[in-house]
Amino acid sequence: MAVERSLVLIKPDAMARRLAGEILGRIEQRGFLLRAGKLIRVDRELGETHYAEHKEKPFFGELVRFITSGPTLALVVEGEGAITTLRKTIGATNPADAEPGSIRGDLALAMPDNLVHGSDSPQSAQREIALWFTDDELV
Ligand code: RTP
Ligand code: MG
Repeated sequence: MAVERSLVLIKPDAMARRLAGEILGRIEQRGFLLRAGKLIRVDRELGETHYAEHKEKPFFGELVRFITSGPTLALVVEGEGAITTLRKTIGATNPADAEPGSIRGDLALAMPDNLVHGSDSPQSAQREIALWFTDDELV
């Protein structure tokens, strides 16, 4: 498998519950390497651009309200199969469907509070990393 990078967002619900360390710890323990990180209060424009693929969905308004509701810890992580393998560590989108052992399956209960985001394809990762970070913020 190729070495890939993914944008990870530790979302406002996770920050409010003081779960940033727990979530980052699980990602690091799986073997992923941290390449960039910053704490951001997401504004409406960044929230809408990040979730642009969901613009026409009925939950778009709720989604943008959620991601702008408090600080988000944005990270770039790197490792073999970082896209697919990381999404397995994160678990299914709806915490009700997430397997125990995954971050969402162990720590989250119901939508929209699913704690964490991971890029869903190499193309998404490239777009999202460029959206959240400048080149010189990547170490
Ligand atoms: P994310 O992008 O946040 O990491 O989540 P994901 O890939 O697992 O799921 P995605 O399909 O990209 O959906 C993005 C976020 O939209 C909310 N959502 N609500 N009410 C619904 O049916 C619904 N579907 C998706 C979730 O907060 C999800 O994280
Ligand atoms: Mg997604």
